[in-house]
Amino acid sequence: MLINDMKKINIRKKKILIRLDLNVPMQNNKITSYARIKASLPTIKLALKNKSKIMILSHLGRPIENKFQEKYSLFPIFQYLKKKLKNTNIYFIKNINDAININYGEIIIFENVRFNKGEKTNNTKLAKKYASLCDIFVMDAFGTAHRMEASTYGVGMFAKIACAGPLLISEIKSLKKSIKNPQRPLITILGGSKISTKFNILKKLAKISDTTIVGGGIANTFLAINNNIGKSIYEKNFIKLAKNLIKKYNIIVPIDSRTFSIKNKKYKYFMKNSNLITDHEEIMDIGDQSIKKFIKIINTAKTIIWNGPVGVFESKKFRLGTEKISYAIANNKKSFSLAGGGDTLAVIEMFKIKKQISYISTGGGAFLEFIEGKKLPSIEMLKQKYIKN
Ligand code: 3PG
Repeated sequence: MLINDMKKINIRKKKILIRLDLNVPMQNNKITSYARIKASLPTIKLALKNKSKIMILSHLGRPIENKFQEKYSLFPIFQYLKKKLKNTNIYFIKNINDAININYGEIIIFENVRFNKGEKTNNTKLAKKYASLCDIFVMDAFGTAHRMEASTYGVGMFAKIACAGPLLISEIKSLKKSIKNPQRPLITILGGSKISTKFNILKKLAKISDTTIVGGGIANTFLAINNNIGKSIYEKNFIKLAKNLIKKYNIIVPIDSRTFSIKNKKYKYFMKNSNLITDHEEIMDIGDQSIKKFIKIINTAKTIIWNGPVGVFESKKFRLGTEKISYAIANNKKSFSLAGGGDTLAVIEMFKIKKQISYISTGGGAFLEFIEGKKLPSIEMLKQKYIKN
C-alpha cells in the first residue's frame, strides 16, 4: 500500500499536526484505561526526538457538537501526558482558533475536536483551519480511521503533506497478516453498547465467521425480536435486520441474563432465562447458562475475533460474564485471537490477559471494518496524498 510514512519523511523542526485516538474509557472524569494513550506515546516521542513543533488532535466520546461538556474534555488526558512527558512543555488549548506559536520540541494538545462545529460532517472550512496550522499532517488515529471527519480526512486533503504515523502503519500491517486465511472454526464475539454502528459490521462478520456470539446491546436487540427486554438498551430500528441475520447465520444469543430493577428506591437483582424479563428490569450481563454455552463454543475456536464486553463490566455486580468470556479467550491456546476496541482494551487490562491475546488492536469500529475488508476513509486519503520520494 503506497502511503507516506512519518518515519521516512523529514519532520525535523517542522510544524506537525498529529491526529491521535485518545478516546479512552472514563468514569467520573477519570481515565479507566491508558492503553490507547500508551500506544500513541512512541509517535509523540518520535516527533519530540525530531524537535518538531507538535500539535495534537483527538476526540473523546460523542459529545453534542459546538457545545462544551466537561465530561468529554480532553483535559484529564492532557494532565496524564504532562506527567508522562515530564521534561517537555505541554500546553492545553481549548479553542482551535487560539493556537499559540510554540518552540521546537514543545507540544499543544487541543480540546476535543468533536466540540468543533463541522468536525463530524467533515466541514471544509474547519478542515482547512486544521491544515493551516501545520507543514505536515500525521494521521495516527487507527481507531478513528473509519470516520470521514474534518480531523481524520479533510485536514489531510488540505495539508501540504499527509503521512501515516507508526501506530497506524503497524495496525495495517499486523491486521492484514493476521486475517489472511484464518484457521477454522472462526468464532466472533461482538458485544458492547454501540449498537447501531456495529450492526452493519455484524452483518459482514457473521458471514465470514462459523459462529458469532453476541452480547450487550446487540444481544438485547436480538432478544427483543421475540421477548420483553424491559428497560434494557437495544435498537428498535435494527430488529428487522436482526431477524434476517439470525435466520441466515449461526448467531448465538444469551439464553439467560443478569438483570436489575429499582422499586421504592431499592435495587433488586435477578438471574433468569432471557424470555422471562419483566417491564421494570434492565439486562446488565449474561447469566450462568450463557457463560457455560459461550465458553464451550470459544474452546473449539482456532481463530477468535473479539470486540466488546458482554455486560456492564465497569460494575462489579455485572462483570462475571465478561470476566469468564475473557479468560476463555485467553486460555484457548490453540487459537489465534484478535481483539480490539476501547472497552475491550479496558477489559484486557482489567483481567491482565494482554500476553495471552495474539494481537490487540487499538481500533474498535475501525478494527472491525478493516477485518471486514471495507475501505477506511483516512487510509484512502493517505493513498491519495502519497508522494514518491
Ligand atoms: C472508538 O472508540 O472506536 C474510536 O475512538 C471511534 O469512536 P467513534 O465510534 O465515536 O467514532
